[in-house]
Amino acid sequence: PIVACVLAGGIGSRLYPASRGERPKQFLEFGGDRSLLSQTMDRTAFADERFVLTRESFADEIHEHAPEAGLLVEPAGKDTGPALVYAAWRLRERFDRAPVLVCLPSDHHVGDDAAFAAHLERAAEIAAETDGLVTLGVEPTRPATGYGYIVPDGDADELEGASADYDGVERFTEKPDREEARRLREAGAYWNAGIFAWTPAALLREARASPLASLVEALEAGEPERGFDAVEAVSVDYAIMERASDVFVTPLPVDWDDLGTWDAVGRTRSDRDAAATNDRIAGEILPVDAANNVVAAPDRHVSLLEVEDLIVAAYDDRILVAPRTSSQRVREVVDRLRERD
Ligand code: GDD
Ligand code: MG
Repeated sequence: PIVACVLAGGIGSRLYPASRGERPKQFLEFGGDRSLLSQTMDRTAFADERFVLTRESFADEIHEHAPEAGLLVEPAGKDTGPALVYAAWRLRERFDRAPVLVCLPSDHHVGDDAAFAAHLERAAEIAAETDGLVTLGVEPTRPATGYGYIVPDGDADELEGASADYDGVERFTEKPDREEARRLREAGAYWNAGIFAWTPAALLREARASPLASLVEALEAGEPERGFDAVEAVSVDYAIMERASDVFVTPLPVDWDDLGTWDAVGRTRSDRDAAATNDRIAGEILPVDAANNVVAAPDRHVSLLEVEDLIVAAYDDRILVAPRTSSQRVREVVDRLRERD
């Protein structure tokens, strides 16, 4: 069976102040009429079973946004590495035949849901065929620093039984700096869509050879709490994908974006203002010689005078103003606020 595992346990700190504490990005709508999480559920209808992977404090609200899915609640929020190892461990013996897990984030913008779902199904087949970790690769359009980069090894023809629609992976690099991102693009790298297909056995095998080995050991000893207490928070990209040996990539040629930053939400979910120069997500704006700003300020009126490339986001009693090019750094504000409180 194909089992979809939707990741929805992050706090979305780069979308502060819209995304805060008990209101993370997966519950926000951003222009759509339903939450990012329920839009994600629509794209997983092909799966035989579906689970949402999250932390205890989000569980009730998850159930409202995704009533059709089962819940897998991790003992603690330790980022996607421990979360995905936990899911593989919980699901490995649940079915008669070994399932293939298709794991996907809940913060994506997708242009064509049907085409997207067909590629996910194909990735599941490749995972069953290869017994490896399968990634979906998006053609890069700029040297973005917020993504993982996948360099294919060009051995597609030598793969046993392979059609040309997937390839081995020479190198996986998570969130490179701008210079490195430029080099990787020139070397023919894809962006990692953050969507993976694997069997529980394949993921657990790679996790045993990773910094998550002690977590796997604790899970196998039937002590998930102990495992989660001891493990460092780390994403699956750093912990496993950068060092795993059996990694494959299949292209995902659909209109796709990660809505994890204000820059991205502005790019995909806004009305451009009347003069077609600024990205308005919420609120009214009056631009005077102002261009390429992204404004998210529900129920407010924002005047922009002679400013460019800014984020202006106002939610509740909080306001964020930052250069649009620093979208990835907004999480540092949240870290700083947490230290202070
Ligand atoms: N269950 C659970 N537990 N989910 C989590 C946790 C956690 O502790 N932390 C984050 N998530 C969820 C988020 O809610 C999101 O849906 C998904 O995992 C991905 O986390 P992000 O924090 O958005 O990751 P990213 O965007 O920085 O990077 C990943 O995605 C990129 C593409 O969108 C990486 O896989 C990159 O390599 C990739 O390019
Ligand atoms: Mg993301």
